[in-house]
Amino acid sequence: MSRRFVRYRLIGIAAGLMLLAAACGGGSAGGDVPPTRDPSLPPHVADAVNGERLFNSESCSACHSTGDRRLTGPGLAGIGVAAATRDPALTADRYIEQSIRDPGAFVVSGYNNLMPNAYGRLPQDDVDDLIAYLKTLE
Ligand code: HEC
Repeated sequence: MSRRFVRYRLIGIAAGLMLLAAACGGGSAGGDVPPTRDPSLPPHVADAVNGERLFNSESCSACHSTGDRRLTGPGLAGIGVAAATRDPALTADRYIEQSIRDPGAFVVSGYNNLMPNAYGRLPQDDVDDLIAYLKTLE
């Protein structure tokens, strides 16, 4: 084994341990509690362009088409309208937020509960941007 290879392996192990520590949330209860927003910031204006960027960078696009095509998850065309009909207790925005943060709370008929829970960690501003983007899909 070359010395260089050993060094990379050590870096790999160190990175793994750091990820593990991060995943444990530094002792906080759930690992997926969204970070609190700095109250001194001006109110966030939802940004659909950033929402589209997040849709790709957060791998939503691996499981969801933006049209009607079914992948692992449902195609999201028309979700802004459909979201208002899913749960009578939730507005369209709150249903989409719940779908992102707590996907098991309502499982769309004909699909399995396969969406990861990890998105609960997304800051509220990012969730608001995703909602704004998803509502542009027709
Ligand atoms: C590993 C696959 C996977 C990934 C990644 C994923 N989803 Fe999903 N998603 C699903 C599945 C499967 C369902 C349907 C079951 C359910 O309701 O939980 C779903 C349901 C949804 C719904 C509800 C759709 C409806 O018609 O009511 C929304 C909205 C949604 N996902 C948005 C997102 C967003 C935004 C992301 C990225 C932040 C994302 N999903 C990432 C698999 C995934």
